[in-house]
Amino acid sequence: MARHLVTSALPYINGVKHLGNLVGSLLPADVYARYLRERGHEVLFICATDEHGTPAELAAREADLPVPEYCRRQHEAQKAVYDGFRLTFDHFGRSSSTANRELTQHFAHRMAANGYLAERVVKQVYSPADGRFLPDRYVVGTCPHCGYEAARGDQCENCTRLLDPTELINPRSAVSGSTDLEIRDSHHLFFEQSKLAPRLREWITSRERWPVLTTSIALKWLDEGLEDRGVTRDLSWGVPVDRDGFEGKVFYVWFDAPIEYIGATREWAELEPGRDWESWWYDAGDMRYTQFMAKDNIPFHTIWFPGMQMATGEPWKLADYIKGVNWLTYYGGKFSTSRKHGVFTDAALEILPSDTWRYFLVANMPESDDVSFTWELLAAQCNKDLADTLGNLVNRVLAFGAKRFGTAVPEGGEPGEAEHELGARIAALVAEYEQHLEQMQFRKAAHALRSLWAEANAYLGIKLPWTAVKTDPADAALAVRTAMNLIALFGPLSRPLIPDTAARIDAIFDTGEGDTPAPWPTAEQARALDALRPGTPFTVPPVLFRKITPEDVAEWRERFGAQD
Ligand code: 2FM
Ligand code: ZN
Repeated sequence: MARHLVTSALPYINGVKHLGNLVGSLLPADVYARYLRERGHEVLFICATDEHGTPAELAAREADLPVPEYCRRQHEAQKAVYDGFRLTFDHFGRSSSTANRELTQHFAHRMAANGYLAERVVKQVYSPADGRFLPDRYVVGTCPHCGYEAARGDQCENCTRLLDPTELINPRSAVSGSTDLEIRDSHHLFFEQSKLAPRLREWITSRERWPVLTTSIALKWLDEGLEDRGVTRDLSWGVPVDRDGFEGKVFYVWFDAPIEYIGATREWAELEPGRDWESWWYDAGDMRYTQFMAKDNIPFHTIWFPGMQMATGEPWKLADYIKGVNWLTYYGGKFSTSRKHGVFTDAALEILPSDTWRYFLVANMPESDDVSFTWELLAAQCNKDLADTLGNLVNRVLAFGAKRFGTAVPEGGEPGEAEHELGARIAALVAEYEQHLEQMQFRKAAHALRSLWAEANAYLGIKLPWTAVKTDPADAALAVRTAMNLIALFGPLSRPLIPDTAARIDAIFDTGEGDTPAPWPTAEQARALDALRPGTPFTVPPVLFRKITPEDVAEWRERFGAQD
């Protein structure tokens, strides 16, 4: 058993996130962390809110709150939603923590000492109307690369290119809307990442079995040439730059945000005596580190952050695997808060249970291409897979068993060819499912899980215990017992994807283990299908998944602004 560090990209603090953030990093990271724990590995699953930078300041201004108070409230709001989705972070930290401030300042000192941070005087956008410099998102305008008209000063949302505010065409202040902008001098620290290009290329090209999406984006950046980037800003909210002459300046949000992976680990360690953060990060040796993120974050995790880590000259743990995913779109378009277009995570939980979302999003994860979310697809797939294939199976078998044989697993009948063949197929599917989860192929994993549920239905379709009970009660009892054994397996196997339902399945059979969740099955248990002994008491649970109706779809299309 190995030690695994798992991190999800850190969601920005500026408001509750939409489903795209969930499917892009938080959910796959959780499914993977849960799976690893099921298999007995030691796992540390870390996430945090990314609280600095202009998005936070602008959102706080809009909410008419001091920035620290705004961030505190939004952190709690996001945390509540992630709890609702059953995300099992070992720690959900905050990039504004003391731990992160100290680490960020330490990184900067080391990088400067090694010759990777240099002071430069730069031209900056200054707004006389606002009486301040306008860094990053404080300026909006037209992207010089793709012509997108609402590009922000730090990055174009449309083509994902990183920008400098002075590059924008027709710039205007995001604070006052003023177009009366000047260019003034200001001094800043620059990360001379180009010096690390050969080392980064060597690192990227020597990674084994990394997803093409990840390596191709990283290599594209290296091929285009790395530009030195400013890592300080004329802002008051952020990690202060502790360097002479830099009073009143803070680090750029993308400088301290990835360091918060380490910062949050330290926050976690500080919560209880005996925990250490260094062994996960510093000279970490025998440990595997996996990062999850959507594709716009890939350059920051394949080039920027590893470059920062290398530039310290210290043995910081680099990622062993970077799982990047494409976009989830909403009816083919971008999710957008301002246009009331798309589904936000808090609203999602108001209308459907978290397991329905988790299953649907894992089964449709945009792994090889962008995926378009539609309510029609959600309804069709969840009704078929969750309500019919899994939910109906469980109720039908248990209700029938209770009625015909009483509320204990029935005895009678001897397993024959049908059961042996079923066992072989189940064992093979479990192995396939495990492999997909190990390799973080989530769509395929969901497919394998669905195939397992479908095997139980197919078996019952052949054995037809509902009619066989009249002519051959022992064979009907065998079929019911075998199906109950399958259901018992579905508890632990479904747990990484649909944990609440898995717990309800676990609670069906009283195996004498109390509240201890059923363990992940061995290959032998999956094949034998006889772990549940005859006589084991059970209860018939209420319906596991209610069906999504055409009226629901119509209502949600209206509420969430769906357009074909
Ligand atoms: O794109 C985003 O949502 C960023 N807040 C991700 C940061 S990941 C990490 F590096 F902090
Ligand atoms: Zn652009």
